[in-house]
Amino acid sequence: MGEEKEASFYTGFNYLFAPLYETAFKYLRDVPFNETIVELGCGCGYLAELIGNRAYIGIDFSRAVLEKARKRAKGSMFIFADLRDSKSFGIYQNFHAFVLLEILEHITADWKIIASIPSGSKVVFSVPDFNSKAHVRWFKNQEEVKERYREWLVFGDMTILTKPENKNLFVFEARRL
Ligand SMILES: C[S@@+](CC[C@H](N)C(=O)[O-])C[C@H]1O[C@@H](n2cnc3c(N)ncnc32)[C@H](O)[C@@H]1O
Repeated sequence: MGEEKEASFYTGFNYLFAPLYETAFKYLRDVPFNETIVELGCGCGYLAELIGNRAYIGIDFSRAVLEKARKRAKGSMFIFADLRDSKSFGIYQNFHAFVLLEILEHITADWKIIASIPSGSKVVFSVPDFNSKAHVRWFKNQEEVKERYREWLVFGDMTILTKPENKNLFVFEARRL
């Protein structure tokens, strides 16, 4: 089992798994164009780039990663914040479309972030079925994922994406209760 990491761990980070962003983008198709999409743990801005010309806010606690994101997705807004700090929750209380890709498994109190999302919001998120040095948990199957988040989310469609070495990501479309 890995451990929760501080921002310095992600400095050289350049995660890219195109099918993940494409799947999240597909699940965002019913979000009205005038609604802002908020991505928590946005990384290097790959989803922001794909989303393109629409209102988007990416939040991350690595300044190095945010610098890459700002270069990649020039028209998008990026904000520096640590999502473990409840003060950061205020940034996104007026929005209703959220994406969390490969972030929840990095946070010990992940449920606090899910709970901070405004009620009724669309939530697209992914979690893994494999260990890594920054993963504080992973899930054997989709039922385990639903069990962990059922207090806050109603689940819709789900896609399993397989990476090299038979590692899988569960990508969920959900709604915050
Ligand atoms: C595995 S990466 C995923 C990045 C992006 N979502 C993607 O799929 O390309 C995890 C990201 O979460 C960010 N992160 C980890 N812990 C965080 C925290 N406490 N607050 C804000 N961002 C955090 C890292 O800086 C990193 O960019």
